[in-house]
Amino acid sequence: MATPPNSPAAVLITGASSGIGEALAKAYATPGRLLALAGRDRGRLDAVATACRGFGAAVEAAAIDVADRDAMRAWIEGVDDRHPIDLAIANAGISAGTGGQGESEEQCRNIFAVNLDGVLNTAWPALTRMRGRRRGQIAIISSIAAFRGLPGTPAYSASKAAVKAYGEALRGWLAKDGIRVSVVCPGFVRSRMTAVNKFPMPMIMDADKAAGIIVKGLARDKARIAFPWPMYALLWLLGALPPAWTDPLLKVVPEKE
Ligand SMILES: NC(=O)c1ccc[n+]([C@@H]2O[C@H](COP(=O)([O-])OP(=O)(O)OC[C@H]3O[C@@H](n4cnc5c(N)ncnc54)[C@H](OP(=O)(O)O)[C@@H]3O)[C@@H](O)[C@H]2O)c1
Repeated sequence: MATPPNSPAAVLITGASSGIGEALAKAYATPGRLLALAGRDRGRLDAVATACRGFGAAVEAAAIDVADRDAMRAWIEGVDDRHPIDLAIANAGISAGTGGQGESEEQCRNIFAVNLDGVLNTAWPALTRMRGRRRGQIAIISSIAAFRGLPGTPAYSASKAAVKAYGEALRGWLAKDGIRVSVVCPGFVRSRMTAVNKFPMPMIMDADKAAGIIVKGLARDKARIAFPWPMYALLWLLGALPPAWTDPLLKVVPEKE
């Protein structure tokens, strides 16, 4: 069965071995579609690939570090040679919690390498090929933590702010080339990343529900897919108000351990 018109026939997803990326892979796993999935944990990635094949998709899975620029370019160009990529989702990401080191200097640098360089290493090879075809779509997974520098997660919120601004700018820059760009800003989602948090996570949702919202938003070519709206509104407001007002409030926000 062919994929419907305006529906991506070839979808590339980084960070597909867990959480939101895994849920997105399963949401896009339909007959007639090619999924190119990447993660680092070969066992978990293969389990996701097998599940997606069970839903009828053709799957190529690669264990690859998004921070490795040359390896990412070789992988993405190889996939694109075989199946021109319609949608590339730069989803792989880490926080202080997933690194298990808090935001030490080492983990701060890892966070930027994965969350920022990893997005560039995904977006650039994809957009270079898409420009040649004058069509394609890129999704960048940011966070509602992008709207205000959060003292509990400095490098995480800064890395997400960087890719949010980059994606917003890319959308305008690449429109003339027929490439659509969306920035995704989720609130708390159940995943390995949030499983380590010992503090309350308001309005946390399942990864399947988050993936459904993202798939729908991308199909509508939304510039910003931010959810759930009360958390989005709260973080947006925190970012808009003067720091002199919000710094005291943010003192009570817990840190990642
Ligand atoms: N969960 C939330 O509440 C939330 C909220 C807002 C935004 N986000 C963002 O959503 C994205 C997915 O996070 P998640 O919640 O689904 O977390 P997760 O369950 O920990 O999944 C993270 C994914 O990224 C991959 N990854 C991490 N470092 C990598 C590297 N160096 N190279 C390649 N792949 C790497 C992981 O692969 P391996 O496990 O195989 O290493 C895994 O597939 C992240 O960008 C995160 O910042 C999450």
